[in-house]
Amino acid sequence: MCGIVGYCGRLNAQDVVLNGLEKLEYRGYDSAGISVLDNNILKTKKRAGRLENLEDALKDDPFTGNIGIGHTRWATHGIPNEINAHPHLNSDGTISVIHNGIIENYGELKDELLSKGYTFKSETDTEVIAHLLDFYYKDNFFDAVTNTVKRLKGAYALVMLCQKEPDTLIAVRHESPLIMGVSKENGCILASDIPSVLEYTRDVIYLDNDEMVVANLDGYKIYDKDLKEINKKSEKVEWDLEAASKEGFDHFMIKEIFDQPKAIEDAIKNKMKDDEINLELGSFTKEELENINRIYVVACGTAYHAGQVGKFAIEHFTKIPVMTDIASEFRYNSPFIDDKTLLILVSQSGETADTLAALREGKKHGAKVLSVTNVVGSSIARESDKTLYCYAGPEISVASTKAYTTQLIALYFLALDFAKKLGKISDDEVKNVINELKALPEKIASMLKDLTPYQEIANEIKEAKSIFYLGRGVDFISAKEGALKLKETTYIHTESFPAGELKHGSIALIEEGTNVFSIATQSKLIEKTASNTQELASRGAHVYSIGRVGDKSLEKYSNKVIYVPESLDILMPVLTVIPEQLIAYYTSLAKGNDVDKPRNLAKSVTVE
Ligand code: G6P
Repeated sequence: MCGIVGYCGRLNAQDVVLNGLEKLEYRGYDSAGISVLDNNILKTKKRAGRLENLEDALKDDPFTGNIGIGHTRWATHGIPNEINAHPHLNSDGTISVIHNGIIENYGELKDELLSKGYTFKSETDTEVIAHLLDFYYKDNFFDAVTNTVKRLKGAYALVMLCQKEPDTLIAVRHESPLIMGVSKENGCILASDIPSVLEYTRDVIYLDNDEMVVANLDGYKIYDKDLKEINKKSEKVEWDLEAASKEGFDHFMIKEIFDQPKAIEDAIKNKMKDDEINLELGSFTKEELENINRIYVVACGTAYHAGQVGKFAIEHFTKIPVMTDIASEFRYNSPFIDDKTLLILVSQSGETADTLAALREGKKHGAKVLSVTNVVGSSIARESDKTLYCYAGPEISVASTKAYTTQLIALYFLALDFAKKLGKISDDEVKNVINELKALPEKIASMLKDLTPYQEIANEIKEAKSIFYLGRGVDFISAKEGALKLKETTYIHTESFPAGELKHGSIALIEEGTNVFSIATQSKLIEKTASNTQELASRGAHVYSIGRVGDKSLEKYSNKVIYVPESLDILMPVLTVIPEQLIAYYTSLAKGNDVDKPRNLAKSVTVE
């Protein structure tokens, strides 16, 4: 998803902006561009493809100046090329704008501007903003921005420059992420995410919806939606840029897979105090819980799979039924929400547009909202009644790994906390589950010692056209996550099925050599899954089973068995996903793909 960086300070703006954009590469993009006020002239350069293309182009003709903006674009309106790349300019190239989000009424605005004689170069929604700024500019850029913003519908984080006011940068945020790093020495840096500013400052201001920043070399002012100047305190970012670097691994994905034992340990530590569950501000009181009669878990992508395991866990420990929904569906499904509803949202980034919209839909109808997220200060965290953090550390690779397993940990703790407060579980049982949770990091570490089996499987399946994943109960959720991970990183078509459902149609697709991953870790269901898998093996499928250590029953119908250490059935998804992640990683490498930035995908999807 698009990344934006704006800089105003004593340093060289081109350097700060490019450096900031590099830190946002993980979000996914297909073109890049920059504008700098260079000796009072607005200069702009854009390139399709990687940021290096832009950096190369600037080598021969660098921009000098202290105020600049830059953008990495993830195409929504118009193909990824140089013309559609940001920044977008007004007709005489004196106003420049970068944008993250979508302007929903851009068609209408474009018609209006065309009728006024404006001409358009690009196919983007953003170009209307540059022309609107031009239209409203009389002699004051601030007024031009406020009048323009009033006309926009949709989501936007904007940073804008105007050659006629060459000492000013203006930014505004509405429904798209925007933070500002501030430093006395280095000035201010506006960015879509914190890693862009950390090299220059640890003091960050989280901008709220409809706030506007006006910055110049002497400092900055922040205005609220009524254009009243406001004072906002900065917060210190405690984590290190180091934590967002590869630390000797070839890729972020494999580094983040290896981060999991430590991340899970941190996730557990942060949910306990004096050997007891303590979610602090991340849960509800007994009375509040007793007042809840309906629970929804809502999320997107991998976070949705974590939410589905969460459903199993909450139902298992509390015996309260839980419904799950995909966020983009939930918001339009008119679910039954009232003040007795608990809405649990799961989101690594805390910025996913559909999940945020589901949150607001829930709040509008009076629901209590609890979020499980990895990013402190994210929109979802700030708008929720309660927030439970994952403590995974920054996750850079687009394919989510450690965020998933730490989301699972958060949801297990939530389920235990609810069950304990509602008297549905004994102290001994809680202790037992916590001991099993605490044993997970070591079990994962043991699975990361020998990577050869995963590399071998990767070589065996890399040419496959289609791969099936199946499982029953919570194993089906692991099957879904395994299928998604492989699909995201390898572009191989994958599908997941509840094992018993396959014979109601999809078995027609099984032929000699079709690859199937069969997940069979749930003690009561192993035999059932085994017999479904046997049906496939007898039709020529090539079966990889993922099962518990010592379960020899899988061998008779599998070409290969990947054994994962034993744990409680409900906790098995934390272990099952490790081989799935590794197989996805190595198969992507075997195919020569860009594993950390798979095609067409974005880390943080901030548009609907
Ligand atoms: C994108 C990412 C996925 C992620 C999903 C939800 O599609 O590529 O990896 O699971 O968004 O993101 P969230 O930040 O809300 O967990």
